[in-house]
Amino acid sequence: MVLPGEQARLYRPRPELLPAAHVPSLPHYQRLYQRSVEEPHEFWGDIAKEFYWKRQHTGPFLKYNFDVTKGKIFIEWMKGATTNICYNLLDRNVNEKKLGDKVAFYWEGNEPGDSTKITYRELLHKVCQFANVLRSQGVKKGDRVSIYLPMILELVVAMLACARIGALHSVVFAGFSADSLCERILDCGCSLLITADAFYRGDKLVNLKHIADEAIRKCKDRGSSLKKCIVVKHLGREEITVDGTCSKSPPVKRLCQDVQAPWNPDVDAWWHELMSGASTECEPEWCDAEDELFILYTSGSTGKPKGVLHTVGGYMIFAATSFKYVFDYQPEDVYWCTADIGWITGHSYLTYGPLANGATSVLFEGVPTYPDVGRMWSIIDKYKVTKFYTAPTAIRLLMKYGEKPVKKHSRKSLKVLGTVGEPINPEAWLWYYSVVGEERCPIVDTFWQTETGGHMLTPLPAATPMKPGSATFPFFGVVPAILSESGEELEGEAEGYLVFKQPWPGIMRTLYGKHPQFETVYFKKFPGYYVTGDGCRRDKDGYYWITGRIDDMLNVSGHLLSTAEVESALLEHAAVAEAAVVSHPHPLKGECLYCFVTLREGHEFTKNLTDELKKQVREKIGPIATPDYIQYAPSLPKTRSGKITRRILRKIAKNDQDLGDISTLADPGIIKHLFNSRCDTKQ
Ligand code: PRX
Repeated sequence: MVLPGEQARLYRPRPELLPAAHVPSLPHYQRLYQRSVEEPHEFWGDIAKEFYWKRQHTGPFLKYNFDVTKGKIFIEWMKGATTNICYNLLDRNVNEKKLGDKVAFYWEGNEPGDSTKITYRELLHKVCQFANVLRSQGVKKGDRVSIYLPMILELVVAMLACARIGALHSVVFAGFSADSLCERILDCGCSLLITADAFYRGDKLVNLKHIADEAIRKCKDRGSSLKKCIVVKHLGREEITVDGTCSKSPPVKRLCQDVQAPWNPDVDAWWHELMSGASTECEPEWCDAEDELFILYTSGSTGKPKGVLHTVGGYMIFAATSFKYVFDYQPEDVYWCTADIGWITGHSYLTYGPLANGATSVLFEGVPTYPDVGRMWSIIDKYKVTKFYTAPTAIRLLMKYGEKPVKKHSRKSLKVLGTVGEPINPEAWLWYYSVVGEERCPIVDTFWQTETGGHMLTPLPAATPMKPGSATFPFFGVVPAILSESGEELEGEAEGYLVFKQPWPGIMRTLYGKHPQFETVYFKKFPGYYVTGDGCRRDKDGYYWITGRIDDMLNVSGHLLSTAEVESALLEHAAVAEAAVVSHPHPLKGECLYCFVTLREGHEFTKNLTDELKKQVREKIGPIATPDYIQYAPSLPKTRSGKITRRILRKIAKNDQDLGDISTLADPGIIKHLFNSRCDTKQ
C-alpha cells in the first residue's frame, strides 16, 4: 500500500551513478535544458555533428509553422543535408568506431535455451544482403514495405534494409488481425510484405503466414498493389534432420514439427532462399534529412488507424540522444527493452536509439509469464542486463505473484529501470523500485507518443529526484504547457490539456497521405501548439503528472485503442444496431473496454452473442482489443441532437451515480435501466 504522502516523497538518485553519468545533477540538467530550448539550432546542431552527413546542411537548421491560422503546418530540421540512418547505425559503428565485434543483439527465444546473438558486423552484412534482396524485388526509394513479423532478428534486419535503400517500412504488430494488417497495407499502398511462417507466444502458436495470406486475399479484393510476400522460416528454421530429430532442445523440437506454411508460388518467396548468394555490400541511398523514414500506425479517434510518418534526420538525432541521456547509456551496458518492435517504443528504443549509440541489447521473443513468472528476472541474470525498460502493465502483472519469483534471481547487474506506455500507479512504481531494483536503481517514467518519436517528459537517472507516478520534467528541446479549455496557458500548479509549444527533432511530420487530418488532430484545437490528447497536472514543484487521455482513446496494457474502432467492429455484426464503447479501470491492464450494444429486431442478447461479439472484435482488430464487458442496452443515452453521451456511459460502467447535469438528455429514463443491468465488474 502507498502511505499517505508517499507521492510527495522525493526519491533521489544514488551516489554510485553520479561519477560516470552524462548528467550528474539537477542544475546540470537545467543548464542543458535551457540551452536546448533557447538555442535549439546550436544545441541540436552540436549533436548532429556526431553523425555522418554525406552533405552538410546549409540552409536554416529548423523551419516550422505550428499555427494553423497562419497557414500549412510544417516542420523541417536540417532540410538539404543528406545522410543515411542505417549507415550511421551500422557502417559507422563497424568501420569508424571499431565496434564490429560488439554484440548488437542477444536474441532470446520464447523457449528458454533457444537463443542466439549477432554482432554489429554480422548485422551490417545481413542488412546489406537484405537491402540487395529488396532492390532485386524492385523496391526503391520512397516505396512502402509492410513488415509483419514476431520479435526475431530478421525484423530488425528488414527495417534497417528498408532504411538503407530509402524505402519506408510500416511495421505491423504481429498480434494484429488480418483485417488490421490489410487496412494498413492498403492505406500506405505497400508493394511488398515480409512475414514469417509462425511463432509461439508463450504456449500459444500463432500461424502468422495464415493470417498474412488472409490479409493478402482481402487486399487483393480491394485492388491492392501488393505483389510479393517474403517469408522468414522461423519455427521451421531448425531443419529436422533425416532421422526426424531436431537439433534443438526438446521443447523447441515440438515447435519445429508443428508448422506448415501455406504457399503461393506466384507471391511467396522464402527469405533464406533470397538471401543466399546476396552480396554483403550495398551502397546506401543518400537521403535528405527530411525524407520519409517510416510509417507506424496508431489508433485514431475516427476509428481508422493513423499512419504516423517520421523522417530521417530529426528522428535519428532525437532517438539517439534521448536513448543516451534517459538511460544514461554507458558502453558496457546490456540494455533490454521488452516492448514489441510493432510499437513505437520498439522502433525508437530497441532499434534506432540503441544501435545509433553502439549499444548491446536483448531482443526477447516471448512473454513475461512463460514458462514461469520469473522469466524476466532470469533473462536479466542470464545477460547481466544493466538497463531495463518495460511497461507498467507488465509490472502490475508480475507484482501479483509476489516477491518470491523475483528474489529467486539476483538482478544485481541492474542500474536503471524504466517504464513507458501508460501512467504508472504509485503502488507498482514502489514495487518496481524496492523489490525489482532493491532501492538501488532510479526509475525513468518516460511519457511520450508514437507521434513524438521519442521521450518528452522523463527523469534523467542521475539528475532527477523522482516522485512515484510522475514523468517529472521535459526532455531536451521539449517545451510543455498546460492549457485551460479556452486555450489559456496555465502557470504554476495547474491541471489541463498537455501541449507542446515548439518542435523537437523527433516530432512526426504528417499522417501519411493525410496532411489535413494531421493538422486537424494535432494543431486545430489550440492554434500554435501540438496537442497531445492527454490531460496533465503540474504540482507545486513543477513536476508533471499525466492524468490520462482526454479524447476518445483508451489505453489497454499500454496500447492505445480508439473507442470508435471497437464500435465499428461491433457494428459489423448482424445483430448490432448501435454500439458505444467506453474505458473502464482494470487492475492489471490499466484500462479495459466496456461496451454497450443495442440490438436489431429479432435478435436476443445471449451468452452466445456476447462470445460472438468478442470474437468479432478480436478478428477485426486483434486480441488486445477484446472487450472485457458487453452490456445490453435497449437504447443509449443521447443528447437531443442525437449524440451518444459517453461521459454518462463511463459513469454507468463504473457504477458512479454522480452524473452531474443530465438535463440535456433526450431520454433520461434509460439511465436507471442501464445502472440496474450493469455487468459485474468486481473480479
Ligand atoms: O496517453 C499517453 C500514454 O500513451 C499514449 C501514447 O501511446 P502510443 O502512441 O501508443 O505510445 C506509447 C509508447 C510511447 C500517450 O498519449 N503514455 C505513454 N507513456 C506514458 C503515458 N501515460 C502516462 N505516463 C507515461 N509514461
